[in-house]
Amino acid sequence: MSRPVRIAPSILSADFAALGAEVRAIDAAGADYIHVDVMDGHFVPNLTIGPAVVKALRPHTAKVMDVHLMIAPADPYLDAFAEAGADILSIHPEASPHLHRSLQRIKALGKRAGVVLNPATPVSALDHVMDLVDLILVMSVNPGFGGQAFIDSALPKIERLRAMIDATGRAIDLEVDGGIDMTTAPRALAAGADVLVAGTASFRGGPSAYAGNIAALRHGG
Ligand code: DX5
Ligand code: ZN
Repeated sequence: MSRPVRIAPSILSADFAALGAEVRAIDAAGADYIHVDVMDGHFVPNLTIGPAVVKALRPHTAKVMDVHLMIAPADPYLDAFAEAGADILSIHPEASPHLHRSLQRIKALGKRAGVVLNPATPVSALDHVMDLVDLILVMSVNPGFGGQAFIDSALPKIERLRAMIDATGRAIDLEVDGGIDMTTAPRALAAGADVLVAGTASFRGGPSAYAGNIAALRHGG
């Protein structure tokens, strides 16, 4: 497989009392993207962080800040996350009833636009917005928490999306999120994913283990 693999550690599994240092450590360990899970206790049953934290973390890394919005509605917060320094803003169709308009807004803000498909959300949700999309995020768990088990039905979905992306001829990231570890990472890559989100598997063992964790996810071993 010639596609470059990118690793996007989810800071949901970092030490929240030391987030700046954690982001610097995971950056130095070889992370490609810094994945930020934003949850509102409404769209998903958990509460995490908002634009103020993205803004505070921005000076700690030059890596791509990959912001996954699990909030409904998402529209009122797009500008704030863009101003805070996000590079990618990804939204769920269920949280964005006017998905096309929301993607247009993200692009108008000068950011890369992502669409996230929950395990039960069909690939067809993308049919009429592919021209606006820079990233497709396939959830391989139901969103809300780190540390859940990988859902196998994500794999045929990734295969279908790989074919759809290749047919566009555009460079659209195909990212997978949830339950990614040494066993599931190679399966997701073989199905066609090229960006792996990993929380538990990136941050386990503390800072001295981060470089090894990321290399193992990237190279499968
Ligand atoms: C789940 C989040 C994931 C999560 C992944 O709602 O979107 O990014 O942090 O955690 P792991 O890698 O532990 O499954
Ligand atoms: Zn995520």
